[in-house]
Amino acid sequence: MSGEWIRVAAPATTSNIGPGFDTFGLAMSEPCDVIEGRATDSGIVISEVTGPGSEGIPTDPKVNSVSIAAEQVLKRCGADFGIELRIKKGIRPCSGMGSSGASAAGGAFLANIMCGGRLGPTEVILCAAHAEDVISGGLHADNVSPCILGGFTAIRSYEPFDVIRIEPPANLGMVVALPDVMVATWDARQVLPREVPVRDLVFHVGNASSLVYGMMAGDLAAIGRSVKDAVFEPARAGLVPHLKEAERAAMSAGALASFLGGSGPCIMSFYDRGAGIGGIIEEKVKAVYAENGMGCDTWVTGPGAGCRRL
Ligand code: HSE
Repeated sequence: MSGEWIRVAAPATTSNIGPGFDTFGLAMSEPCDVIEGRATDSGIVISEVTGPGSEGIPTDPKVNSVSIAAEQVLKRCGADFGIELRIKKGIRPCSGMGSSGASAAGGAFLANIMCGGRLGPTEVILCAAHAEDVISGGLHADNVSPCILGGFTAIRSYEPFDVIRIEPPANLGMVVALPDVMVATWDARQVLPREVPVRDLVFHVGNASSLVYGMMAGDLAAIGRSVKDAVFEPARAGLVPHLKEAERAAMSAGALASFLGGSGPCIMSFYDRGAGIGGIIEEKVKAVYAENGMGCDTWVTGPGAGCRRL
């Protein structure tokens, strides 16, 4: 038995966003992964993986985020069929742009459509988060939550799981710069401190609260001054060449904030779309890498919707 192909798009996301480690996430309007699936008699098979970085992506369904997440959905729904999957990566792995999160969320979202949409969004997120846990060595749903729900998300609690969605300001522009270096989330989580001083906790709570206010009120200045991280980005800075120079270049071009996207290596910059400076920030950051003999892919993008059927 082979059913008709169903296609879904799963967007790139940025997570942490300064003070919200494993908590905050934001969906981007581009780039996206595209996941296709059709029903089979049983089991999960990955028949094709294409796109940037696909040569390093396993087709063994036991260790691929799309299939792990899809299998969770089939299990929860008690499905009596399998799925053949085709994965078209638009987001390179080890980028800090939620590549594994998009694959996991796309796989879970697709499988849920194939099960008649029996699971609600929170259950779909949890199935995708399980795949993130297996692949990255730590349960974190800060990429898969915005990837499913779209917009800005804040995870209030993991147990019980409770996520809040906020519509971000329409004039929040995002420039993503991805230098030619790979950082695996697994590795980037090994360099983190196990404990944080109270003063850093206070600093993060203050900035996180203000960032949520900025997202809700559409206050770009509040967002810009709240994207601060005293703990996680400093611990990871050594993994990303020229990170500080790139951030300084973006800020000198008028960015509201410039920071390590997720676990890196991408550098995210926020700007006011009304100022029309996305292209200038992009060029300045690219120039930092060009001057150091490194390539750097860029996107001038903005907040976007979550997973959708194509
Ligand atoms: N919050 C996670 C981390 C995101 O920073 O490790 C990984 O993409």
